[in-house]
This record gives sequence, C-alpha cells and structure tokens, in this order.
Amino acid sequence: MTEKDLISLDSLMKHPDVVKVTDKENQQLIDRRECIPPSCKVFENACIALEDREQYGFEIDPEAARKLPDIIHNKVQAVVGVERPSGEEAAEHGKARAIGVVFSGGPAPGGHNVIAGIYDAAVKANPDTKVLGFLMGPDGVIENEYTVLTKEIVDSYRNLGGFGMIKTGRTKIDSVKKVSSARQTCKDLGLDALVIIGGDDSNTNAAFLAQELKDDGVQVIGVPKTIDGDIQVRDKSGNVLCAMSFGFHTAARAFATEISNLCTDASSDVKYWHICKVMGRVASHLALEVALQTHANLTLIGEELSEYVDYERIQKAEKTGQTDYTAFGMTIRHLSRVICNGIVRRAAVGKNYGVMVIPEGVLEFINEIQTFIIKLNTIIADFNEMHDRPFHLEFQRLEEKLEYLRRLARRSREDDSFTLWNTRDDDLFSDLPIFFQEGLLMERDSHGNFPFSQVETDKVIMGLVQDYLAWLRDQGKYKVGLTRDYYEKTMKKGGADPQLYGPALFRNYQDGEFLLMKEEIMSLKTLTQEMIRCNVLKEGESIPSAVQAIYKKSIPSFKTQVHFYGYDGRGSDPTWFDCTYTYNLGLTVFALIAAGATGQMAAIRNLERDFDTWEPIGIPIGPLMHLEERKGKLTLVIEKSTVQLNSASFQVVKNLREKWLAAHPGPDDFRRPGPINMGDPRSEDRPITLALNALGSTPPEE
Ligand code: FBP
Repeated sequence: MTEKDLISLDSLMKHPDVVKVTDKENQQLIDRRECIPPSCKVFENACIALEDREQYGFEIDPEAARKLPDIIHNKVQAVVGVERPSGEEAAEHGKARAIGVVFSGGPAPGGHNVIAGIYDAAVKANPDTKVLGFLMGPDGVIENEYTVLTKEIVDSYRNLGGFGMIKTGRTKIDSVKKVSSARQTCKDLGLDALVIIGGDDSNTNAAFLAQELKDDGVQVIGVPKTIDGDIQVRDKSGNVLCAMSFGFHTAARAFATEISNLCTDASSDVKYWHICKVMGRVASHLALEVALQTHANLTLIGEELSEYVDYERIQKAEKTGQTDYTAFGMTIRHLSRVICNGIVRRAAVGKNYGVMVIPEGVLEFINEIQTFIIKLNTIIADFNEMHDRPFHLEFQRLEEKLEYLRRLARRSREDDSFTLWNTRDDDLFSDLPIFFQEGLLMERDSHGNFPFSQVETDKVIMGLVQDYLAWLRDQGKYKVGLTRDYYEKTMKKGGADPQLYGPALFRNYQDGEFLLMKEEIMSLKTLTQEMIRCNVLKEGESIPSAVQAIYKKSIPSFKTQVHFYGYDGRGSDPTWFDCTYTYNLGLTVFALIAAGATGQMAAIRNLERDFDTWEPIGIPIGPLMHLEERKGKLTLVIEKSTVQLNSASFQVVKNLREKWLAAHPGPDDFRRPGPINMGDPRSEDRPITLALNALGSTPPEE
C-alpha cells in the first residue's frame, strides 16, 4: 500500500461508498415498500355493501348459540360494489371512524399489509378516519396503549414481514376484568371497530368480544393469521370459504429455501443427515408444504401417525380373544423404526446422508405422549384454579414438580375416584429423558397451548433412532453399499483379487449394483471368521489391507445436524401471494366495518385459483365454534384444521414418498424452490398444498 492509499478514519467513515453500503435502506427494501399489490375488482367501487350468501351453512353448537346470541345467526357475506349508492349509503360508507387494530399471537408475514389495506381503504373513504394500532398485542387493548397510525408509519412497513409496526402478544382477553378494561379502552377512544388479527384462539376471542361489545356499538372483526396454516374454513357441505391463513405461504417458502439448501449441501458433502424441525404446533401443514417444495428424503406428518393401525398386532391379540388398544396410533418406538428403515435403505445404496423434516407438534400425534400432555394440562390448570400461586411459580424446579406428581400418584392409590395421575403414569413419566420431562411440564400460554417450539422434539425422536441404528449396526443390518467399481479399484490398487474375495464379503456380489457386506460381518473378528469359512483366508493370516479398507468403508457412522425453522419464517418478508392476499384482507376488513358487520372474519374465497377469481367475504365466527377440552375444561373454540389424509396434497406426498426417499442408485429427487422473490410472482405463485387440494379429495381407504 502506498502513502497515497492511506485514508483517515474520519474520511473513511464519511466516504459516500461507506455511507451507502452501511445504510440500512437498500434498493430491494425500497422497491418492496413502494409496491402496492393489486386489489380485487370489487374494491374499485367507490361504495361497497355486503350480501348474505345463504347457500353456505354451518352446524351450530348449542353452547355457541347460548353464549353468542347476537352474532350466532350471522351469515357468510360477500363484499359487493354499489354502483349508484343512495345518499344515506354513501354517507355511512364515508363517515369518519376510529378503528383499532391489534396483532394477537405469533407474527405471520403479511400482517403489515392487512393494516395497510385497512388504512388505505379507511382513508380513501374518509381522510378523517383514524386507525389506531394497539401496542404489544391484546395487552395494548386492555391497558389502552396505542399509537395513531400515520401514512409514514404504514408506508414504512408495506410488504415487510414480522409484526414490528405495533408488536404482538399472546394475552387472551378472557376474564371479566380484562373484558371490562377492553370495553373501557374502546369507550375512551370512541372506537367504532376493533380488528383482531390472530389465529384460531384470537378469532375465538374476537367472537366473544363482538358479543360483549355489541351493545356498545363497537364492531369486532377477525382476520385469519398464522404461519401454521391451521385456520381453514369450510361450511357444513364442505365448501371452502377460507383455504389458508395468511403467513403460511411465506413461512413454508422460507423454510423450504433453507431446507433445499441443506439438500444441496447434504448431497455434496454426503456425510450428514440434516434433521429439520419446522414449526406447526398442532397441524403438520408446514411440513407437508415443505415436503412438496423440497422433496426432502423423509417427512413426518403427525396426522398420519395417529391414524396408523397395526393390523398384525390386532390379529395377534384377537387370537387370544383380546383387543390390543396400543395397536391404534403409532408409538414413538415404532416411529423411530420407520425412520431407521429409510436411513438403512439409503445407506445400502451408498447414501449415508439425507434430509428429514419433522413437524414440531409431531409428538402430539403419538398416543402415549398426547395422553401425558392432556393429563398435565389438566393438572396444571386445576392447580392454578385452586391456588393463589400458579403451578410454575409454586414449583420452580423439576424435582419439585415431579414430587407433586408423585403426591398425586399416591392420592390415586388411596382414593379410587382420583384417576388423573396414577402410579403407572408416574412410572412411565419417570422413564422419559429429563429434558423431555421438563419440556412436558413447561408453562402453557394464556390459551392453554402446549409450548412445542420449546421442546426438543427432534431430540426425543432422534435419541431412539440413534439407539436403534446402533443396534442395527451391531446386527450387521446397517451398512453402506459400495459401488462395484469402487470395490474393484480399491482391491486392485491394494494388490488383491476382487473376484476372489467378493463372494466372501458381500451378500449380493453376483448381481448387486451396490455391494452390501454380509450381515454376519459386524467386526474385524467376524470378518476374519467369514473369510476363513469361505476359504479366502487361513487361520493366523492377517486380512489384506485392501479388504480392511473396504470393510471400513462399509461401516456407517450416523452423523446429524439439527436445525429449527420457525421464528425465521415468521419474520421473513412476505411472498407476492401473501402480500396480495393480506392487502386484500385489509380492504375486506374495512368493507365489513363500513357495512356495519360484527363478529365476522375477513376472508378471500378462491385463493387457490387465479387472482381474477378471488372473492372477498366475511365468515361468521360464532358458527365456527365448538366445544373442546382446554386446560382440562370443555371450552368453546374454533376448531384447528389439521392435515386431512384424503386430501390431494397428502396423497401426492404419500405416493411420492418412495421416490423422494431415493433409496435406489442414482441421484436424489430434490427440488429447488429458490428464494422468496417478490419481484417475480411466477416463482412463488401460491402454496402447492392449496393448488393440489383444489383438485379434490381421494376416496377413503379401505
Ligand atoms: P400462532 O398460532 O399464534 O400463529 O403461532 C404459531 C407459532 O408460530 C407456532 O408454530 C409455534 O409453536 C409458536 O407460534 C411459538 O410461539 P412463541 O412465539 O410463543 O414461542
């Protein structure tokens, strides 16, 4: 470096290139924020109304009818344009309003565009309308913490991921006190409407608030958000009203991009199994979509495991006149065997590597674990109800929690009517690894949900997989297959005759494309014995070094890298699909508010089809409620939608599973979805599951 190249630190920091490259604004970000997604045609009308769509009906739960009398008879409503509005209609549509919006639950890409859609439509209808953003989730509503959303704020978050604009939280507005505080906030701010952008639990909450605030004249509108994709709504005849919650596509695409990169790395480096846990607390939709996007070698779908029936076990039990209830649903041990089978088969064709996708909630579909989760949920909820100090404050260390469980087990021995936690439960629970006991005893959220994201699901499953693989290796059943070419070259290089030793070493020497060492050869000792038995080695002679090298190559070492995909996808900038979907959801929300609706959830029909056919609607939330056990009590909630085993998406994955496992000679079948690229709508289109499910369902299996 010459003296002329020296630059003072001060000049360096002020250098335009340094200023430019260290600026947090970059052109892509600027382009993203400046983009306004297209609006559905109906929103071109200056005035908008709602039309009941009587063809869609619901089975109404009597308890929902009792608790939500003022919103239970709401209908599905389509947003329609009013070409020539009357003076009254125009005045109602264009009146100045105060609209509060709140995010509730985990972030999902697209949330900012919902707010942008509401804001744009509201301000277009009347520039004096105020949109208030409640801060930190429902706590903001309870505590009256908000910010007035201005054009500058909204513009700076357009098409961006996360919920950073007003943050989010998981509080549930469920107690009399919280509802009364929320009511007071609405009153103090003169709110006309409150918009709750949240998941199934938050929309459940929206329905109750709509009922509570009806007489105060505050409209409550829900918006279906969650990356988990488990809010999907059909009417009682199976008509799809909301095919997918927003955020799902982006999260799945973000995970798929990363996992596809791992597929590329795994098949280059050929030494790791990448274990990828993906979010989806209850349903496996994300894992299914990731499978379709990447063609990973193995993908577990929780819903399939609980439907599994072990017919062999049933028949065996029937012979003794008994019913084996453990034959229904897959046990965790059995699951580990299924995984090992895939790993062993790939190794046999030389692929001792791969990529596996595990939904984070998979254990909830394993009967034995689900029983623990339900029992512990009830125990914790009962304790919290009966004591001043919550369970997790009262018992802070694992040992204290276990001691409480032991006390319950003792109680069950003394009191026949107490069956919640018996000695058998306690014994089985004690057998679980400590980290998993801790996980199962973790604090539930305010909706009573189990915190799967904090439990090392992969560790539980992979622990059993490791053990079983070690056993298979000891039995000589887990071997790496070697190409004939490699074998012959190595032997010749070491001065040994491949033809002479081949039949002694391999079980398929005659015709195998990948040569597999005989099962009985599990160690150098057994190798020696087999060679002597086959007359290619004499007692006392040492094994030729080329044979030793081949033997070593055939012994697999199972190495894993574990990854968790979840929070990254929630923060990812939305795909074109999610940007457009959410912006139109926002416009729909305003249409519902302007037309006087309450207790409705904004949705877009025909998401699975071309944009021109998208139809903004309002779905009544009350009729979606049903009774479910939560925190040990029957509670009205919106049912989560899980993967349907007869859906086209699942059936396609099931039928391509063998192809994607690629336990055959030749390359893997990995697919490269590429990164999220908002500038190129073709590359992202829409979720594959959505497109496939629109094709129909398969008949039930015999
Ligand atoms: P929502 O249902 O609120 O959308 O959140 C879903 C989720 O992303 C799950 O997939 C995950 O288990 C959970 O949030 C994690 O929650 P937390 O943010 O509390 O760790």
